[in-house]
Amino acid sequence: MSVIAVGSFLPPPPPYRRIKPRFTTMVSLRSDAVSVAETSSILRKLKEECATPLPVLRQVADAMSADMRAGLAAAHGLPMIPSFVEDLPTGNEKGLFYALDLGGTNFRVLRVQLGGKDERVVATDFDQVSIPPQLMSATCEELFDFIALGLAKLAAKDDDRLNLSPGKKGEIGFTFSFPVRQTSIDSGILVKWTKGFAVSGAAGRDVVACLNEAMERQGLDMRVSALVNDAVATLAGAEYWDNDVAVAIILGTGTNACYVEQIDAIPKLQGHVSSSGKMIISTEWGAFSKRLPLTEFDRAMDAASINPGEQIFEKTISGMYLGEIVRLVLLEMAATGELFGKSIPENLYTPFILGTPDLCAMQQDNSGDLQGVGSLLYDKARVESTFSARKTVLEVCDTIVKRGGSLAGAGIVGILQKMEEDSKGVIFGKRTVVAIDGGLYENYPQYRTYMQDSVKELIGSEKSNNLIRFILLQNRQGKTRLAKYYVPLEDSEKHKVEYEVHRLVVNRDPKYTNFVEFRTHKVIYRRYAGLFFSLCVDITDNELAYLECIHLFVEILDHFFSNVCELDLVFNFHKVYLILDEFILAGELQETSKKAIIERMGELEKLE
Ligand code: BGC
Repeated sequence: MSVIAVGSFLPPPPPYRRIKPRFTTMVSLRSDAVSVAETSSILRKLKEECATPLPVLRQVADAMSADMRAGLAAAHGLPMIPSFVEDLPTGNEKGLFYALDLGGTNFRVLRVQLGGKDERVVATDFDQVSIPPQLMSATCEELFDFIALGLAKLAAKDDDRLNLSPGKKGEIGFTFSFPVRQTSIDSGILVKWTKGFAVSGAAGRDVVACLNEAMERQGLDMRVSALVNDAVATLAGAEYWDNDVAVAIILGTGTNACYVEQIDAIPKLQGHVSSSGKMIISTEWGAFSKRLPLTEFDRAMDAASINPGEQIFEKTISGMYLGEIVRLVLLEMAATGELFGKSIPENLYTPFILGTPDLCAMQQDNSGDLQGVGSLLYDKARVESTFSARKTVLEVCDTIVKRGGSLAGAGIVGILQKMEEDSKGVIFGKRTVVAIDGGLYENYPQYRTYMQDSVKELIGSEKSNNLIRFILLQNRQGKTRLAKYYVPLEDSEKHKVEYEVHRLVVNRDPKYTNFVEFRTHKVIYRRYAGLFFSLCVDITDNELAYLECIHLFVEILDHFFSNVCELDLVFNFHKVYLILDEFILAGELQETSKKAIIERMGELEKLE
């Protein structure tokens, strides 16, 4: 999956109208008669209106599932666009392929030589350029000429490993990340632009034909073999490495989600014949709008956008808009005269002056006096701020980012819910991977955490962050001497876990840390002679605490068996489990005193 730099969710400056009038009026009305409490009352109201308690998240998830169903059937609900991608990569693919990616802040062009199962990616080369802002409102020909030129430049680079065999036509996968009504795998009509693009003469046209014409103008002899949305590309790309991927999400400048659907569950594709019986559906969930906790700031931003009334979910959760919502809140607060002094900083009137990467940078400021927040506010908005103003700004950022991340999580659960309802047991209770791409998710830790928390809260299986999922004690050869699971897993799944964890810890270079990501969690492990103690916990849990916990367990074993060795564990496994139960119950640490546990074990011994 590609990594998009933080800058990739920088908002483009032009096609937004200034929202100045409404707030300017408010300033002149209020300028002198403000009470000190006004800023905090705006903040309080904002927090109330943006709150995402469990019932709100549940309603959003339920409405998302319902809108997906409606969209699959007919013209209302979500767009639910059939991608015509019916088979996913197997890893056996071989040959030279080109890929184009247009849809956010950057345009990327790539070529890759695939060498099949064993060799995988043999060689690759890519170029990336940021889309010039004027191109976003240029003509269709200008935009596609720009793309074809990028492609021509890359194709002209000489590289033995990446040259086409003579007489072979270059095959292109075209990732075009806008709502497209697909008519086949290699054609699709642009429905509308999103994310600030307003290129004229493209809506209603087949974008593959537009690209072909531009390639012809460049003298390029290539053909588009697949037209895909970026969410679809993410799903297919992730599947290349992991077969359990069922859903893909984009959280960057814009947002979208796609998943694998059964053909017979898509009424609007009635009669379509498919060999696999499945197809990836691009939900275009950015168009979702039900049950969302919205505020006057969202409405003002929407009204001033180039697509009012559209893409409401996208405008609430994606990178292009979070900074802008914060700007509007700060403008209203500044109008009270309390936040930044008597006059409103002029730059604060400029739409998109604060980007989502700016919110992210401010939220990473750990200095005591919030110096970083102060400098950023000054650089961006020429605002001089007091410590208390900086704290308020951070609270506004956090409120908007929390709402965005939490709602994104609710959307994900909505999709999983729909899939589970249609195919009992296929999603929940089994390993299901959601592939996520996009600069917002990758670069904004707070957003990511809010999103994950909301998924956990809704799915409810992971009751607490401190829950240990399992403990394994394995020798170097891979024999599991103790296995305790605190989450329900099927036997086949347990074997898989044991095999994977063993491979992970035994092969890891000792110069690395004892913490390693494992699927969606992490494993904390420690080696004692030939035995590996591994413990799986949440990704956000404190590693050192668990490392200590393993050591304590070993000390107790050592004390109990006086110089414990592997055979003690084999012959007295029931006692080992007993000790473990004194120590950890239901995935939670019960007792951290070695003395107390040893005394209790003594009592239990007496009972035997
Ligand atoms: C577009 C989607 C795209 C998403 C992420 C949205 O604005 O409508 O097609 O997948 O952005 O790039």
